[in-house]
Amino acid sequence: MKKLIVANWKMNGTAIFTQKLLAPIIDKKTSPLSEIVICPPFPLLHAAHNIMRDSQLHLGAQDCHHEPSGAFTGNVSASLLKEMGCSFVIVGHSERRLHHHENNALIKAKAIAAINNNITPIICIGENLEVRNSGQAISTVIKQLSECLPESKSSCIIAYEPIWAIGTGMSATEDNIAEMHKEIRDFVGTGIKILYGGSVNAKNAASILTIDNVDGVLVGGASLQADTFLEIINY
Ligand code: 13P
Repeated sequence: MKKLIVANWKMNGTAIFTQKLLAPIIDKKTSPLSEIVICPPFPLLHAAHNIMRDSQLHLGAQDCHHEPSGAFTGNVSASLLKEMGCSFVIVGHSERRLHHHENNALIKAKAIAAINNNITPIICIGENLEVRNSGQAISTVIKQLSECLPESKSSCIIAYEPIWAIGTGMSATEDNIAEMHKEIRDFVGTGIKILYGGSVNAKNAASILTIDNVDGVLVGGASLQADTFLEIINY
């Protein structure tokens, strides 16, 4: 089965950057092994959609609001994301949990809003270093999962992103990943993709992608350079 490679640009990029980064990826994406999702910041969705229109790349957003519309200054609804060409949306990223105080109930509501608009939510879960060091990583992650996952779970993708591995250059070990993904698989069952995220790069992508129950990767920093991202896609 093809692996899903998701680029989370976070708060990076410009209109020119979007053109420059995507052009070689669209040109040189040769791997039959992977399916690609690009998640730029909201204002770049339209430009990215136009550039990617006739390609095999999919468009995703980094967040959505849980309500369909209304007085929510600065937020974006799932229906508008659909209109902008998104077929995926990341919800519950640890940076949103931390900086925007998002909790599991809200993240579940966002996932439901996405599903209601035919968008696949990529639900992020993961423990911080303190929790891992206290031996509570598995129970914490499974609690997040049980509280975030909607009834129609088959429409969701799960991304396990240990917080201590994000942007640190220190990816989780293969044993850490295998152990957690097995626990997540046992909880969600088959048919749901489970991604790993946290310091994925051109060097470690191939070995991470061969671990049992790893159906793809969620890539931050290494998705911002065409060469590096192409190496990951063609792992
Ligand atoms: P890095 O790949 O930069 O560690 O970021 C991971 C991440 O948060 C993707 O959502």
